[in-house]
Amino acid sequence: MTSLLPQNSDGCPYLLLAPMEGLGDRAFRRAMAALGGVDETCTEFMRVPSNAHVQSLAKRYHVHETAPIPQAAQLMGSDPELMAAMAYEVAQRGALRIDLNCGCPSNTVTGKGAGSSLLKEPEHLNKVATAMVQAVSIPVTAKLRSGFEDTSLFKENLLAAQESGIRFLTLHPRTKVEGYGPPANWALIAEAKQLLKIPVVGNGDILCVEDALNMLKQTHCDALMIGRGSVMNPFIFHEIKAHFAGTPFQRNWESFLVFLKTFVEGIPADMTLRGQINKLKQLMGFLFKGNAWLLERRQSILTASYAHPSALLEAVLPLYQQSGLFL
Ligand SMILES: Cc1cc2nc3c(=O)[nH]c(=O)nc-3n(C[C@H](O)[C@H](O)[C@H](O)COP(=O)(O)O)c2cc1C
Repeated sequence: MTSLLPQNSDGCPYLLLAPMEGLGDRAFRRAMAALGGVDETCTEFMRVPSNAHVQSLAKRYHVHETAPIPQAAQLMGSDPELMAAMAYEVAQRGALRIDLNCGCPSNTVTGKGAGSSLLKEPEHLNKVATAMVQAVSIPVTAKLRSGFEDTSLFKENLLAAQESGIRFLTLHPRTKVEGYGPPANWALIAEAKQLLKIPVVGNGDILCVEDALNMLKQTHCDALMIGRGSVMNPFIFHEIKAHFAGTPFQRNWESFLVFLKTFVEGIPADMTLRGQINKLKQLMGFLFKGNAWLLERRQSILTASYAHPSALLEAVLPLYQQSGLFL
């Protein structure tokens, strides 16, 4: 069986972009793919409600969205039969991998037994994952938080997921109740790695190369998944790879412009102008957090009003050039 998480040359682990609903959407994923460095992207969760018409729902998945970077599909739901049917439809659309969401904390979701609610009942988590695994010939994986209210079912959930036949498991080691409050508990990733036979992808709070190295050292996880750290610094995957290659890395201004251009082009054209500007502001809000000099100017950029996304870019680009981030 070939590895789904092949190491890069120079021993750099496989690097995945985290699914992020409302933040890591199509525009961002395409921009990341244009910049490169990341080995695989994933859609935000696609909700599979109890009245889902899976053939129509699955049309939202576009396998080539981030080509040439492969893009997995993430599904969220709690009905085994519907999740199996949806997995089948998404596989028919060429998905390379389907991920089961066992972490979304949103109450509108958890109220219906999906997302992190699956962590309350390991047997049910196993049922849903097993149904998906049996429905498709492509790999199914799962992404878990460390628990719902606490970590009392942590091991049971990990084993229930593994027993379903999933090919790897990603752990974001915070409970649903913790939200994003306390630091991710990397010790739990180390525990998962010791407990499970399937590969474990480590996720949570990787904001720089040093964090990536520390997570690998502390947990021995098989691959790394990065979410918010890549929105703050889209070059993070390149920087990790350069570290392993032993080559210096310099952020390239032209590449950054391509990143921004791809992002702006990817904002849905049917979005209102205000929506488009807010989308770009959301990205800037994260990007400006990634640098102390920019952080000081973040508030004024975000609170100013702009007539068009291009006006926001015009205000921001000179600041970026002065930030010292680029040669
Ligand atoms: C805005 C936002 C949306 C998210 N949406 C999803 C999602 O759709 N599916 C999922 O499994 N996790 C989702 N997550 C969790 C991330 O994938 C990731 O596990 C978490 O942010 C911790 O990793 P990080 O510290 O690298 O960001 C989301 C996180 C954020 C901040």
